[in-house]
This record gives sequence, structure tokens and C-alpha cells, in this order.
Amino acid sequence: MSEQFDVIVIGGGPGGYVCAIRAAQLGMKVACVEKRATLGGTCLNVGCIPSKALLQSSENYHALLHGFAQHGVMAKEASFDLARMMGHKTDVVTANVKGVEFLFRKNKVTWIKGSASFKSADTVTVDGKEYQAKHIVIATGSESMPLPGVEIDEKTIVTSTGAIALESVPKHLVVIGGGYIGLELGSVWRRLGAEVTVVEFLDRLVPTMDGEIATAFQRILAKLGMKFKLGTKVTEAKKTKSGVSLTLEPAKGGAAETLEADAVLVAIGRRALTEGLGLDVVGVAMDERGRVKTDGHFSTNVKGIYAIGDVIDGPMLAHKAEEEGVALAEILAGQAGHVNYGAIPGVVYTWPEVASVGKTEEDLKAERVEYKVGKFPFTANGRARAMGDTDGFVKLLSDKKTDKLLGAHIIGPDAGTIIAELVLAIEFGASAEDVARTSHAHPSLNEAVKEAALAVEGRAIHI
Ligand code: FAD
Ligand code: NAI
Repeated sequence: MSEQFDVIVIGGGPGGYVCAIRAAQLGMKVACVEKRATLGGTCLNVGCIPSKALLQSSENYHALLHGFAQHGVMAKEASFDLARMMGHKTDVVTANVKGVEFLFRKNKVTWIKGSASFKSADTVTVDGKEYQAKHIVIATGSESMPLPGVEIDEKTIVTSTGAIALESVPKHLVVIGGGYIGLELGSVWRRLGAEVTVVEFLDRLVPTMDGEIATAFQRILAKLGMKFKLGTKVTEAKKTKSGVSLTLEPAKGGAAETLEADAVLVAIGRRALTEGLGLDVVGVAMDERGRVKTDGHFSTNVKGIYAIGDVIDGPMLAHKAEEEGVALAEILAGQAGHVNYGAIPGVVYTWPEVASVGKTEEDLKAERVEYKVGKFPFTANGRARAMGDTDGFVKLLSDKKTDKLLGAHIIGPDAGTIIAELVLAIEFGASAEDVARTSHAHPSLNEAVKEAALAVEGRAIHI
């Protein structure tokens, strides 16, 4: 006889564990199957959390070397201990994953340890044992996209998982892919002293973000000493005695060149992870990119089977997965769970940070929507000056006729936190005028948002 639940969630990442907790809060009997030794998924174990710990550590070191002197704060000698830095990262991860375990106990969610595969539409098998539920949620996440001709060993040719655990600072790190991972982790190792070259297929960085922001971002990262080879592809990476020899070609075709590296980070995107789940056994349909196909309510084509997070369509972000987890649990409880995909922020946690919500200028042009632009630089923000962090600007896009806020894009200090008020503004359907008329504390970085909103009608005060 198999053990019975109302809901079984497969995968204990931000999508799965949040869905499990919310379903339990709503009175359902819930189990979550996770094959890793710890809960929290990619995000807590090898993604968001450890990468942010290393970003913070490397930025602290860099500030001690280059940033604090302008404040009259000097250290006799700046140095770092990589092993201790990694130790801090591990402590932060441990605290977070243990936290999820605690939340499972508190909410009476059963953690089934092991790898789940479907036996039938209402039954999964884990280590030979069967578990049955009315609703089964696929939240198995994603994995790094492989690049033909480049074999990962997680020592010298690494994905993000190896790149957050290097044992020494490489002399030359080549990063393949100028997206979220490449720029965050590339900047970590650059700040710790590596020469870093980013090879990007397209002729710009972070292709999902606003073009003007991406150009400013590249300029700022170049000031940090990062080098860029845009419009270039890697066709081969061969291990040599001293490191790795890469063959590069212009993306549009042309003569090949070689580039020598001590380490290579492959960060060209991630793909849905469904291996070993036995989706074929139950006939769950996939799309052309190997993601689980869902309708607007996270249902697959098989009754009683649902999917959320990185394994389905949409941005591969932890908070998107969490929103979907909550919405689905509420739908299963007969409530009206819903996710507003137009108001999901994206943040690159470099320093300065890059944050974005809603439409980019490129989107609006493609959709032939008429819009107004308001911009304000951090050089004119008192708080940013006091911090000595004046790189970047706020850019707001609103509808030309109605003034409804359509997009917000920020590059600057703490942009990832600043963006929150604009996510809320978009969620509430606010106009740029609404933001402009809202009192913002002085002196705060968020005043740059108010000024950008005023600038939409050409009436910024401080520029
Ligand atoms: P996952 O977190 O991938 O969790 C899926 C879980 O399912 C895994 O633990 C896996 O072991 C388990 N699983 C898979 N198959 C089975 C099976 N058959 N049986 C049992 N268990 C199974 N996003 C942000 O929003 N902010 C960030 O700062 C950020 N930084 C990132 C940094 C890096 C280096 C990386 C790689 C990603 C980052 N992301 C970030 C993305 C974020 O990690 C993902 O969007 C998020 O983890 C997706 O959550 P999920 O629950 O869908 O999947
Ligand atoms: P990405 O999609 O952000 O960037 C990949 C980059 O690689 C793109 O610029 C793309 O044009 C380029 N590329 C693709 N093929 C290439 C090739 N053959 N050669 C050279 N360049 C190539 O993917 P990334 O950085 O791997 O991250 C995966 C996902 O993880 C992100 O999209 C994001 O959803 C999530 N993530 C989120 C973070 C955050 O929220 N701060 C941090 C890290 C990851």
C-alpha cells in the first residue's frame, strides 16, 4: 500500500518548497521529494545565495583596495583569504538550507529524500517506495546548458557550480556568455584579481535588458577591468598542460583566433531539468525547448499533474518560481492564485547592480507603443555622492497618452532594492506622475526614482 498525500511536490527549490509550505498552510497533507542532501534547490545551494555571498565578499575586498580611501578610510595592507571567503559562503548556504528544513517541520511538510519518477498520473516512486497524491507538482528546476566542443570538468572548465568553488584565483578566466551568471561571477573573480574576458555571441550584454542600460553596464564593467569579445562564439576548448586553449570565431563567420585561459566558465543559459522523471510514462507534453508545457493555471496536459518554476516557460528566477508555487497551492485549495508576469523584476547583483521591471525601450518599439522617457543620473543624487557611488542612472518608460508606467530600468548602487517601489507601482497600475507625486525620503537613493518620474514631463528639480 502506497503512502497517501493531497499534494506531492517533486523538487525542493524555491518553486517546490514554497508551493509545499503554502499548500500545507492551506490545510493539505503535503510531501516534497528532493534528491539533494539539502533543501533549497539550485538557488540556495549553488545559485542565488552562494553567488551573492561571494559577490559581497569580493566587493568588500575591492572597496578596501579602491573605494574606502575617498572616505579617508585606509588599511595598511589589504588582503583576503579565499578559504575563509568560501567558508563564509558555506555558512550562509547552510543557514539558509537548514532554515527551509525548519520551515518544513513547522508546517508539517514531509521531506521524502531521493529521486522521484512517475509510475502513473497519481503515483511516484522514490527508491522503490510508492507515494500517491491527488495532485503532483513538477518543480525540478534547470541545469546549465552545455556547449558543444567544451567539456565541463568543474575544475578548470566550469559551470556556475564550479565557479563558486574555485580553489585559487585564476590568472585568466574566460567567461563564455555575457548574461546574469557570466557577469556576476566574472566580476567576483575580477575583483579578486583575475584577468577576465567575457566572450558573448551577440553584439551586446544581458540581451533581455534595456539596450541603453546594457551599454552603460558594459562601460562600468570595463572600468573594473573586465574585457569583452562581443559578436564572438567559442567553437572549441582544449585542455592543455597549463590551462585551456579556446578557439573563437566571429559569430557572423570569419577567421578563427585562439585565446589561452587558466579557467573557463560556461554560462550560456540554463535548460529545464526533467531527466529521470519518467514524464513519457504518463505522457506529459513538453515544448520545443524541453520545458514542461502548462496552461495558464500550471496544469500540464495530464489531469492532476502540474509544473512550476524553471522547468516551465518564463524567466528562470527564484522569485518567479516562488510566486508560481504560491499561486498553484492556492489554486489547488480552490482559491484564485495568480502571477502577474508583467511585474517580475530582474536584477544582476554586480556592483553597481542592474535592475529592471516591465518593458524595455526595445520591447515598446517592437510593439509600436508610443512612450515617454524620464531619466536621472546618480551623479546628481546626494546620497550616492555621500556613498561615493555615483555610476549609473534611473530610466522610466511611461505610456505617451495615459502616462501609465510601462517599464523601469536602473543601473546604480543598490538598484535591486530601489526597483521594488517601481515593481509595486507597475503592479498597482500607477502612472509616472503617481511616482513623481509620492514623497521620497531625503537623502535616499530612491530620490533618483522620483526625479526620473518628474523628468518624464521635463520637470526634474535636481538636474
Ligand atoms: P531549482 O531551484 O533548480 O530546484 C529544483 C530541485 O529539484 C533541485 O534541488 C533538484 O535537486 C530537485 N530535483 C530535480 N529532479 C528531481 C527528482 N526527479 N526527484 C527529486 N528531486 C529532484 N535567481 C534569482 O532570482 N536571483 C538570483 O540572484 C539568482 N542567482 C543565481 C545564480 C546562479 C549561479 C544560478 C545557477 C541561478 C541563479 N538564479 C537566481 C536562478 C534560480 O536559482 C532559479 O531560478 C531557481 O532556483 C528556480 O527554482 P526551481 O524551484 O524552479 O528549481
Ligand atoms: P543568460 O541567459 O542570462 O545569459 C547567457 C548569455 O550567453 C546570453 O547573453 C547569450 O547571448 C549568451 N550565449 C548563448 N550562447 C552562446 C555561445 N555559444 N557563445 C557565447 N555566448 C552565448 O544565462 P546564464 O548567465 O547562464 O544564467 C542562466 C539563468 O540563471 C539566467 O537567465 C537567469 O534566469 C538565472 N540567473 C539569475 C541571476 C539573478 O537573478 N541575479 C543570477 C544568475 C543566474
